Amino acid sequence: MTLLERIKENKEEFIGLRRTIHENPELSFQETETTKLIREYLDRLGIENLPNGEETGVIGILKGGKPGPVIALRADIDALKLTENTKLPFASKKPGVCHACGHDLHTAVLLSTAKLLKSYEAELCGTVKFLFQPAEEGLGGSLSMIKNGGLENPKVDYILACHTWPEMPAGSIGVRKGAMLGASDTFKVTVLGKGGHAAHPHKGIDPVVIAAHLITQLQTIASRRVAPVDSVVVTIGHLTAGTVNNIIPNEAVMEGTVRTQDPDTRKRVAEIIEELCVGTARAMGGDARVEYNWGVGPTMCDPVLVDQISEAVTETLGAEKLLQVPVPSMGAEDFAFYLEKVPGALFRIGTSDEKPESKWALHNPSTFFNEEAILAGAAAMVASVFKIGGGDMEALKR
Ligand code: NI
Repeated sequence: MTLLERIKENKEEFIGLRRTIHENPELSFQETETTKLIREYLDRLGIENLPNGEETGVIGILKGGKPGPVIALRADIDALKLTENTKLPFASKKPGVCHACGHDLHTAVLLSTAKLLKSYEAELCGTVKFLFQPAEEGLGGSLSMIKNGGLENPKVDYILACHTWPEMPAGSIGVRKGAMLGASDTFKVTVLGKGGHAAHPHKGIDPVVIAAHLITQLQTIASRRVAPVDSVVVTIGHLTAGTVNNIIPNEAVMEGTVRTQDPDTRKRVAEIIEELCVGTARAMGGDARVEYNWGVGPTMCDPVLVDQISEAVTETLGAEKLLQVPVPSMGAEDFAFYLEKVPGALFRIGTSDEKPESKWALHNPSTFFNEEAILAGAAAMVASVFKIGGGDMEALKR
């Protein structure tokens, strides 16, 4: 039976896994039921599995019958703080929690991949580690998996992941060499002035006026300081100062996020923010204190692995199913933390169809995901493991 025939035979089971997870979403680091479901499924398959230390999440290990590299496959398993509005028969049973980013599909893809790879155990080259990772949404779950040995024993050589993408039709796989997602960092600026009476501004230093200048100046980073083709987003999402209308406060506080793609630009933007805030505040008689918090780096896909994934998809699903993702997303992925340790790649699984809500952005409470994506995702994962591991691709076609 070919790989696609095996997927077709298991179609209801694979989609059923997704629906069960979808109905029972769990927030970051609270995925106890999902963890249980994953462990029970892997147990039934006869795949060795370990807890993710003291935290939620599962590490599965499958040793192939032939020598080869250690390839980790990662799925994020957590849901969002959002009330679902899809009216689907298997919609979230929990108000305020739903899978609107498609992590339920990712988990189903990886469980399906585990079942399929188990059926190819004898032909499989090397070892596959299944990383069912908690807490992607807070951008910290991958660090828990790394801390708990997800990339060790056996030591991982390559890592792959997939993510749903409403901008591509269900059944298609999207790849991109280099940046697929952006880096996400945050910063806090405390503008230091000198408080006083609102009617006598000359006797104090008004931090509110300084903050207003800083906010507009920060927007010149993207437009004037970084090349127009090099993407940068600087957003101030939080600003507080003062208490009442007739008092000039001592300080103003603003917090923002920076999204970049290029690692050098990422460092440069942090320097510019510091220079610009401190320099401007001082020029206006005040001062500024900048706290910069390095978050997650850009998700950079290894070009050799992307070529191998592309070949694997072409050989199994067909060339028409392989799409090039034209531009990176400025969203961020904590998959990037693994990529600081081992080469890897993230590919997109298309999830849209004729329904308008299937084309809506991720994190929307009404977003619809076409489940064909699970089957294509599993095919792409299995074929990529064979291709990267140096396995016999013909085994998937007979
Ligand atoms: Ni996501």
